[in-house]
Amino acid sequence: MTDFGIRILGTGSAAPANIMTNDDFAHIVDTSDEWIISRTGIRSRRIATEETTLSLALDAAHMALDNAGIDPQRISLVICASITAEQMTPALSCYLQRDLGLREDLLAFDLNAACSGFIYSLITAQRLLDPDGVALVVGSETLSSVTDFTDRSTCVLFGDGAGAVVVERAPLPFFWATTVCGDDESLAVRKYIEMDGPAVFRFATDALCKRVQEVVDQVGCSVEEVDRFICHQANERILANAAKQLNVPLERFFMNLADFGNTSAASIPLALDEAIRSKQLERGHSVVLAGFGGGLTSGAIYLEY
Ligand code: UT7
Repeated sequence: MTDFGIRILGTGSAAPANIMTNDDFAHIVDTSDEWIISRTGIRSRRIATEETTLSLALDAAHMALDNAGIDPQRISLVICASITAEQMTPALSCYLQRDLGLREDLLAFDLNAACSGFIYSLITAQRLLDPDGVALVVGSETLSSVTDFTDRSTCVLFGDGAGAVVVERAPLPFFWATTVCGDDESLAVRKYIEMDGPAVFRFATDALCKRVQEVVDQVGCSVEEVDRFICHQANERILANAAKQLNVPLERFFMNLADFGNTSAASIPLALDEAIRSKQLERGHSVVLAGFGGGLTSGAIYLEY
C-alpha cells in the first residue's frame, strides 16, 4: 500500500482480423469443438496474418490515448509487457515512443513476466510515476508465432491481441501482491509453448485465490465487496473454480476468453477495455485485476476505476 494510486484515464485494445474457430482446429489436429468448449470455454481466437506484436500494440495504444483525451506529450513512462516481440531489441516500447510521437525524455522498456506481465507492468508504472506523470502500459502478443500447430494440447488455447491503458497518479486505493517461484518445468516457451496443463491449472486456481485474498486483506474489505474481477483469460474453469472458492458470483468475473482464447500479457488489458466499453466496469467500481503464468508468476491489483 502506498499513499497514492493510479487513475485509469483511457483504455484501448486491438486484435487481428482473422478468426480461427474450434472447428478450424478440428481440421488440423485430433480435437473437437465440444472438447475445447467443455475444457476451456474457448470458442474462437484471433490469429495474426498481417498484424504483428508491434502493430497490435500501436493500435491498442492509439485507442487508449484517444480515449484518455490527453496530450500524448504528457506521457513520461511507457511499459510494454510481451513475450512475443518480433525482435530482442529495440524494445516494443521504443517503437511505441517513436511511432506515437512521444517525447524523448521518457522511460520506456519492455517487461517479461509471461501471462502476469500486465499486472507486473501496472505495479511498476504505479511505483515509477512522477506526481504529474502519465504512463502508457501495454500488453501485446502474437502467441501464434510460438504455437506448435501440431500439438493439440496447446494449440487450441492461445490467440493474438493487445490491450493498453493510460494512467496517471491519483489519490486512490492501490494494493498489490505478487509471487514468483522460478519453475521452468510446468510452462515454458523455448521454440514453442510447452505446458503441463493439469499442473498449471492447479497452480493457477490456487494462485488466483491467494493473490485476490492477499489484496483484499490489505484493503481491509471482504472479497464479496469487490465489484469486478478481471483476470487472466486462460480457462473458464479456472475462473469458475476461483469464484467458487472465493465465494463470489461468477458474474462478477468479466470474461471474453470465448472469443480471444489465452493472449498471455494482452489478456487482462484486452478484457479491461472490453469490460469498460460494454459498461460492465463503471466509474466508482472497485476492481481486482489478477494474472498467473510462466515463471511461475502471479499477481493481483486492487484499484478503483
Ligand atoms: O496462460 C498460462 C496459464 N495456462 C493455463 O492456465 C492453462 C491451464 N491448464 C488448462 O487450462 C487445462 O489443463 C487444459 C485445457 C490445458 C487441458 O485440460 P485438462 O482437463 O487438464 O486435460 P488434460 O491435459 O488432463 O487431458 C485430458 C485428455 C488427454 O487424453 P487422455 O490422456 O485422457 O486420453 C489429452 O490427450 O484430453 C486430451 N486432450 C485433448 N483432446 C481433444 C488434450 N488436448 C486435447 C484437445 N482435444 N485439444
